Amino acid sequence: MTEPKPRFIPALNQKWLTPLYDPTLRYIMGEDGFKKRLIEQTNPQPGERILDLGCGTGTLTIMLQRRQPAAEVVGLDGDPRVLDIAQKKADRVGVASIRWDTGLADELPYPDESFDKVITSMMLHHLTLPEKLEAFHEVHRVLKPGGSFHIADFGKPHDRLMRFVASYMSHLERTADNFKGRIPELMVETGFNQVEGTGHLRNFFGPLSFFRGLRN
Ligand SMILES: C[S@@+](CC[C@H](N)C(=O)[O-])C[C@H]1O[C@@H](n2cnc3c(N)ncnc32)[C@H](O)[C@@H]1O
Repeated sequence: MTEPKPRFIPALNQKWLTPLYDPTLRYIMGEDGFKKRLIEQTNPQPGERILDLGCGTGTLTIMLQRRQPAAEVVGLDGDPRVLDIAQKKADRVGVASIRWDTGLADELPYPDESFDKVITSMMLHHLTLPEKLEAFHEVHRVLKPGGSFHIADFGKPHDRLMRFVASYMSHLERTADNFKGRIPELMVETGFNQVEGTGHLRNFFGPLSFFRGLRN
């Protein structure tokens, strides 16, 4: 019997490339810089419950927990293989408090109003437009009133070089809305308030943007 097709795109698009994900992010994408920036924006506080949506191999999740050891941090991903890598990485660096959950962004396995903050890095461009909208609805549902959503992902290019890099990937259904700059618009459409772009930077694979939105 053949395995049913999973409803998520693996970290580097093909599951056999997953072991190369961490070196690619570290040495080619310079992940440390943009992940630190996203954590600064998230500003984790003691006692907060924070979800890392599409946490992959857990680098950002572990950085977040180390930045605020008194927060309750949860990493969720559709791919149990990356969660296995994340768990081992957390064990290696002695961060035992993170809970790792398998689940899909558009069907979050959590009750309403159960997180103070949701953070997500480089995951949204894996989703089709209907999946993005459903995922945003789900994030809105699981956030407590006053909670916030923090995003780093491909965004609209701001210069010629980034327009050139983005042009290669803009034809892909899942990334096109990112490069067209539609993420904030989709956040507003799904009920987030005070949605703002908080910055952008150049990256080897294309322009990265940061966003924030609040759940009233
Ligand atoms: C490019 S990786 C980013 C991982 C991590 N957030 C980071 O910044 O390094 C995208 C991750 O999203 C996960 N993913 C893709 N679609 C998903 C979905 N519908 N629900 C949950 N996770 C998903 C993939 O399994 C992968 O681990």
